[in-house]
Amino acid sequence: MIDLNVQLNRLKLANPIMVASGTFGYAREMAAFVDFRGLGAIIPKTITPQPRLGNPPSRTVEVSSGLLNSIGLDNDGLDAFVAKHLDYLLSLETAIIANIAGKNTDEFVQMAERLGKYPQLAGLELNISCPNVSGGVDFGTDPELAAQVVARVRDASPLPVIAKLTPNVTDIVEIAEAAAEAGADAVSLVNTFQGMAIDWRRRKPILGNVIGGLSGPAIKPMALRIVWQVAQAVNVPIIGIGGIQSLDDVMEFIVAGATAVQIGTANFYNPGLANKLVDQLSEALQEQGCQCVGDLVGTLQVPTR
Ligand code: FUM
Repeated sequence: MIDLNVQLNRLKLANPIMVASGTFGYAREMAAFVDFRGLGAIIPKTITPQPRLGNPPSRTVEVSSGLLNSIGLDNDGLDAFVAKHLDYLLSLETAIIANIAGKNTDEFVQMAERLGKYPQLAGLELNISCPNVSGGVDFGTDPELAAQVVARVRDASPLPVIAKLTPNVTDIVEIAEAAAEAGADAVSLVNTFQGMAIDWRRRKPILGNVIGGLSGPAIKPMALRIVWQVAQAVNVPIIGIGGIQSLDDVMEFIVAGATAVQIGTANFYNPGLANKLVDQLSEALQEQGCQCVGDLVGTLQVPTR
């Protein structure tokens, strides 16, 4: 029997396949397509303290091998999340990790305090990397700010803390290092890459917000590179994200150094994928002679120069 459990400091998951925030709604939407009990964790759409209308349309556009979005953290706010979604989410037989974003550290702390009163939550993922709202990436591009928000959230709540980082920086290693030193249980790498799409005939940007975040297979090589670089430099469990759509993709992220992964854009066109990957992962680990996921984590062999 293969042991699919993974431990990311204080966060323990039944398997390493999670579904990413913003690609799975609040789970109800996916109930007809997914066996929630098979998932490592569900991360619902980012919650902010107050309701947000989000950005003007168009908010999504398909591009070569990927998806550009500029949703703008559209959500009904923390009160509505607690009143309308939390009981349902906590009734599902899988780990639920709440993804939160604030305009300043105090907002992150207030949300963490409130959600910390629900010990049935598996953890908090801090969205310090949204490219589509003003100030959304500030915490994720400055090591001091990243450390401050992680440390204060960790003090404010007993829940495990994951920092979701942006790739839109010169050196993501220093941000990951700061988050780890401040007490992050794990870092999720990576959120979307800034990009744009243009309707040249109309001389107009396609997204209402002009610039958006690119996800999907187009970003996988860059996300893999980042996971590998951070794994070499920082002693913190990594959750790999970026264009995963097959078991080979999952294995590549694990070998590069990820202890777990999130399926994102693929949920939109293949909502049953995460369930399938869990089954395939078990078989693949067995074929490789592994007892557990950890046997494969960070096993990439790089030629010495
Ligand atoms: O625009 C959005 O809501 C995207 C959020 C994110 O990339 O974190």
